[in-house]
Amino acid sequence: MTHAVEVRDLHKSFGDNHVLKGIDFTIEPGQVVCVIGPSGSGKSTLLRCVNMLETPTRGKVFVAGTELTHPDADIDRIRRHVGMVFQQFNLFPHLTALQNVMISQQRVLKRSKKEAEIIARENLDKVGVGAKCPAYPSELSGGQQQRVAIARALAMNPDLMLFDEPTSALDPELVGDVLTVMRKLAEEGMTMMVVTHEMGFAREVADRVVFMDGGVIVEEGTPSQVIGAPQHERTRTFLKRVLHPEG
Ligand SMILES: Nc1ncnc2c1ncn2[C@@H]1O[C@H](COP(=O)(O)OP(=O)(O)OP(=O)(O)O)[C@@H](O)[C@H]1O
Ligand SMILES: [Mg+2]
Repeated sequence: MTHAVEVRDLHKSFGDNHVLKGIDFTIEPGQVVCVIGPSGSGKSTLLRCVNMLETPTRGKVFVAGTELTHPDADIDRIRRHVGMVFQQFNLFPHLTALQNVMISQQRVLKRSKKEAEIIARENLDKVGVGAKCPAYPSELSGGQQQRVAIARALAMNPDLMLFDEPTSALDPELVGDVLTVMRKLAEEGMTMMVVTHEMGFAREVADRVVFMDGGVIVEEGTPSQVIGAPQHERTRTFLKRVLHPEG
């Protein structure tokens, strides 16, 4: 079976800052993989290498069997099948929620305005903000904006969704709504790679948890292995800090 994502000996440096130091992992279709680890460990860089927002210094990245790191790869075509959701929603401030979800469909997928609108409304309904179609981002809560951003990604019919700390910019009371949407996506069989500090979500939803530190994968396994019974001291130290920040 073709892996949804395959990363082989991936390295990334920014100048002489060697950020990713040989990363290997795969994601199978329909799997949810949560990536955890301390700040600066390279989680965002790894995620951004998976859709070539960053160009790896060395190594290979495959998405659905196609090598993105190949010099002849049609990156734009592959990227069309990969949705990305960022910590800072990145909505267009001058467009309504509906228009934000329509624009890439029209520009990239060349859908008609009518079709794009129907699909935008479906996806906004799906994430629970269907009533907010005419609202501008500044009129929405963080949680609503993030759900619009998820609807925008889903409207492109992605085969894979990448999430980079989608709830860490949100007020605590808004986190649940976004996680509920993500849980639903996972249940529907979406392939997802999620950088998160939400250990409850990772425990409940992830098929696999990957713990990164210092640009390498220190350990990976099921949530009960990595979060429940970590094998490495670095993992234990990290989890202690995340799960008991006051202690
Ligand atoms: N575009 C860039 N240019 C130069 N250095 C970068 C760039 N992006 C990331 N880095 C560096 O790479 C290292 C890893 O950053 P990265 O953002 O991947 O970490 P992270 O694990 O996502 O951290 P956080 O949990 O704080 O988001 C850091 O030292 C950072 O300064
Ligand atoms: Mg990051």
